[in-house]
Amino acid sequence: MLLGTIGTNWITKQFIQAAEQTGQFELAAVYSRHVATGAALVDSFGHGQVFTDFGDFLASDVSVIYIASPNALHAQQAIAAINAGKHVLVEKPLVTHPSQLAAIQFALDAHPEVMLFEAMRQLYDPNFAVISDLIAKHPVSGATLTYMKYSSRFDAYLAGEDPNIFTTKFAGGALMDLGVYLVSSAVAWFGMPQSATYLPHLLASGVDGDGVARLQYPDFDVVLRMGKTTNAHAASEIYFGRDTLSFDSPGELNDLTWLSARSPKSLSVPHADNPMIEEATFFAQALLTDDHAAFEKQWRLAQQVHQVMGQLRQGTNLIFDTDPK
Ligand SMILES: NC(=O)c1ccc[n+]([C@@H]2O[C@H](COP(=O)([O-])OP(=O)(O)OC[C@H]3O[C@@H](n4cnc5c(N)ncnc54)[C@H](OP(=O)(O)O)[C@@H]3O)[C@@H](O)[C@H]2O)c1
Repeated sequence: MLLGTIGTNWITKQFIQAAEQTGQFELAAVYSRHVATGAALVDSFGHGQVFTDFGDFLASDVSVIYIASPNALHAQQAIAAINAGKHVLVEKPLVTHPSQLAAIQFALDAHPEVMLFEAMRQLYDPNFAVISDLIAKHPVSGATLTYMKYSSRFDAYLAGEDPNIFTTKFAGGALMDLGVYLVSSAVAWFGMPQSATYLPHLLASGVDGDGVARLQYPDFDVVLRMGKTTNAHAASEIYFGRDTLSFDSPGELNDLTWLSARSPKSLSVPHADNPMIEEATFFAQALLTDDHAAFEKQWRLAQQVHQVMGQLRQGTNLIFDTDPK
């Protein structure tokens, strides 16, 4: 399948490497605002054409588009790609406000041949399935999920620059960037919460540098800790009464340990070095086998996740420039 990409930062390169490693995709087109930036990406793979005109890019012969632009552009670019008849893999967060889900659904309804997936890579990690199996077999009594990483762009922000990920213009901040992994994992593992509240710690730019969320379920609570201005080394935990599953953040899933009255037991299974290989494989399989059931399932999950993301922002001062007025 011929692959087109939007955005030329390191994550796009990592995805192209993963996609080509599956043997099912070949980079054919790169959209960039600048010829030189696009050419540098194309040259590193030795094939592909650079487009600086978005309309020309959409009219090219690619059948699949991977979107890794700033968050606030995802929904509109995904809709344009769907309307051009291309399958889409959109980086997280798929949308920045739940109202954009209806617009995507409208485009999908008009193009029933097209499939769209949110690039929520941890869902496809084999360790994610290990945790899902444990949850299916043991009653859960609560969880604390943590993803806090000092951003490579935070020093620039502190120096007075305006990196996209720390602006309300591009819907940046902790919840949208890292919290979305936690919300996605929680909804996939535990289902829709009865209520969802968020206490963001806002930076002067208006985005959340860090924050704590609480998802309430009938029999337990899930606490989410997210941040881009500090590094957390504490493990994430899912509680099963007396026993506990401890693991690194849901965004990494390298080490899973079962803690009980007996000695600790590692439950981790090997996963690919490039964390995008498993999702690229899933995506390729769904497209090659025209697996609309897989698409529907992941689309339903993405919609639920972004309903919760919307609920979390309700009643807070975390407001993005692209929010409906
Ligand atoms: N799955 C993962 O593990 C993972 C990891 C990192 C990031 N991500 C996601 O990938 C996306 C991109 O993140 P990033 O950190 O790479 O973002 P970024 O550096 O701010 O922007 C990504 C690309 O978008 C284009 N761009 C930048 N500013 C723009 C603007 N003002 N208007 C239009 N286009 C602009 C640039 O490409 P050109 O200059 O070539 O146009 C740039 O390379 C985010 O949604 C993020 O959540 C995912």
